[in-house]
Amino acid sequence: MIKVGFFSSQEYERAFFPGQARDDVSITHFEQALNARTVTLCQGLDAVCVFVNDELDRTVLERLSVVGVRLVALRCAGFNNVDLNAARRLGIQVCRVPSYSPEAVAEHCLALILTLNRRTHKAYNRVREDNFDLNGLLGFNLHGKTAGIVGCGQIGHALARILAGFGCRVLVSDAQPQQGDFEQVELSRLLAESDIISLHCPLSDDTFHLIGEAQFKQMKDGAMLINTSRGALIDTRACIDALKSRKLGYLGLDVYEQESDLFFRDLRDTIQLDDVFARLISFPNVLVTGHQGFFTREALQEIANTTLDSLEAFATGKPLATRVALDQ
Ligand code: NAI
Repeated sequence: MIKVGFFSSQEYERAFFPGQARDDVSITHFEQALNARTVTLCQGLDAVCVFVNDELDRTVLERLSVVGVRLVALRCAGFNNVDLNAARRLGIQVCRVPSYSPEAVAEHCLALILTLNRRTHKAYNRVREDNFDLNGLLGFNLHGKTAGIVGCGQIGHALARILAGFGCRVLVSDAQPQQGDFEQVELSRLLAESDIISLHCPLSDDTFHLIGEAQFKQMKDGAMLINTSRGALIDTRACIDALKSRKLGYLGLDVYEQESDLFFRDLRDTIQLDDVFARLISFPNVLVTGHQGFFTREALQEIANTTLDSLEAFATGKPLATRVALDQ
């Protein structure tokens, strides 16, 4: 029997991850994120199960190693928040959920695109106040527009298929050659030709601030930018400048560079201290959701199945099929 500490635990996850999840796996839930301040909670644990904003840097991993934790199980796809080199050096295995319903995230992108375009969020509020004025709600047809997908893996490809179904011309840009239905181009050409740009590559040293001042300059005037991948793919300050100058016509975000201080909790009664975020959401053509792309019943079930399979494999000394390799 292994003891697992489940960090950043939310109420909606507990039905999927009960305390006695499998014969060999016992789970304790912690609402706190795992980081240098909360790592003291890990005494007596064999494994930790973490999410996107837990901080598994070298210091935290070293302290996990000291108390005997031998597995970090990410219940998400991205692993940019884990120092893989330190984990390997310390003999701590890292596994993740490499794939769970890419359609969940792709369909959320579509929700952002359609809401920004047809302003259904504003229309909803107007109609509730008996305001049936259409001024300010003018949208555009997706049909015939060019959509650029940056990173055409599982989620990018799912979105490309959806947008092709709307009659968009789809361009893709990926670090790897792509086989298949969509035209692959250099990032600079994608930026110059796309009406809608959606980011789907992982965050790494190579992709940090992939979209900055120079890239905004290359975009069409009034382009729409969507990011559901990781916040730091976009240089937020350069993005605010692009919104101010109206170079960027629409911005839809499900992720934000400094989201770990904000997302996944109710901060209604606190003072917003992040001035950059406050400025961002003050624009009428910006729509931000709090990292909910993954949040469908189907995706949660798949995340739970894969994570529990990994924990059980670890508990019974079997190889981990979902292990993160250092070169990923
Ligand atoms: P994937 O691994 O299937 O695809 C990523 C693609 O990006 C690959 O084709 C890869 O070659 C490409 N890529 C890598 N570096 C690149 C670069 N410099 N330029 C262009 N392309 C590059 O990953 P998947 O499953 O499609 O997920 C993508 C990202 O979405 C994850 O890394 C994660 O950060 C994010 N995500 C967000 C969720 C949310 O709830 N908002 C949920 C799940 C994932």
